Amino acid sequence: MINKQIKAIINENKEKLFAFRRDLHSHPELSWEEVRTTKRIVEELEKIGIDYRLTHPTGVIAEIKGKKSGKTVALRADIDALPVMELNDTLEYKSIIPGKMHACGHDSHAAMLLIASQALYTVRDQLAGNVRLLFQPAEEIAEGAKAMIEQGAIDHVDNVFGIHIWSQLASGNVSCNVGPSFASADILTVKFRGKGGHGSMPNNTVDAVVVASAFVMNLQAIVAREIDPLEPAVVTIGKMDVGTRFNVIAENAILEGTVRCFSLAIRHKLEKAIRHYADKVAALYGATAEVNYIYGTLPLVNEKRSALLAQSVIASCFDKSTLYPVRPTTGAEDFSYYIQDIPGCFALVGSRNNEKSTDWAHHHGCFNIDEDAMIIGAELYAQYAWAYLNQDKF
Ligand code: NI
Repeated sequence: MINKQIKAIINENKEKLFAFRRDLHSHPELSWEEVRTTKRIVEELEKIGIDYRLTHPTGVIAEIKGKKSGKTVALRADIDALPVMELNDTLEYKSIIPGKMHACGHDSHAAMLLIASQALYTVRDQLAGNVRLLFQPAEEIAEGAKAMIEQGAIDHVDNVFGIHIWSQLASGNVSCNVGPSFASADILTVKFRGKGGHGSMPNNTVDAVVVASAFVMNLQAIVAREIDPLEPAVVTIGKMDVGTRFNVIAENAILEGTVRCFSLAIRHKLEKAIRHYADKVAALYGATAEVNYIYGTLPLVNEKRSALLAQSVIASCFDKSTLYPVRPTTGAEDFSYYIQDIPGCFALVGSRNNEKSTDWAHHHGCFNIDEDAMIIGAELYAQYAWAYLNQDKF
């Protein structure tokens, strides 16, 4: 079920794959600022001969039309960098922009999809359908996928496939599980209003420090006592802004946190419980609560047929040991928006190689990838599309 010509083209273009990634790596651009990155992608698409259109304000949607009619499969790569200072001082292609870095590997995603596009364009006469290529900006702020969709990224698309390079997985391994893969990531702000006063006379006040503290402690019961123990969930308060001085009782407290889970039903339950706890704790102390619950990314749940297809492609293309299931992560990925209404799946391509010091966490200043993993990723993009469009023949 794999196309040998695709494999050969990817391997022949290894140096181009590495060089393109290195070029993007040394010129990182933050979310919605990917102007040079977009320009570089377009230059390469033009050289290959692939039709494209620009999305606003950055990003590219391209399309390869197969000779025969059929379905349309979309391949997605995100292209933005992070506000992180690169610490890989000896790297010849280190970021040239202080404080900006491709610390999540999105440079490799763009490069892998580009080389995959070249391979698919070369075999377009063998494609029974079309391949849509999505070079997506602003994933790091969870806005890019939504904006691409609004601009028609998945109009008339039957299936979507995406990849993330993954430093927690050994180079040479790939994971694409059926079901949950990434969590939803919501933003929580709670404001308690009490009554300030002199620190020596608490009886005349409603102490926002006490209310906020009671809320944080009670909040722990939501995951422990309200949610099915077999359903993963996270409620974290990361910031508490309360009080001004040691002998002044605080009137207001503002708490900020994040809420994560893998299903919309659990998400709904968590939001409801948080609102309930905030109101009741505030009432207990005579304060008031205002909860602002902002929906972030959706849970990323790989559709069964798509994930099984990806698994067969991985098993056919690479070693038997390549497929290596990893547990879902409570991190977030805005690829989830693409598969809200149409089937698709998201694979993790391992890039950890201790000998090459590529075992640093994503978003760390020392993050880097084993570039050999990109050969697997580029081929996986192309072979998945080929297999999806030609699967009737298997
Ligand atoms: Ni990322």
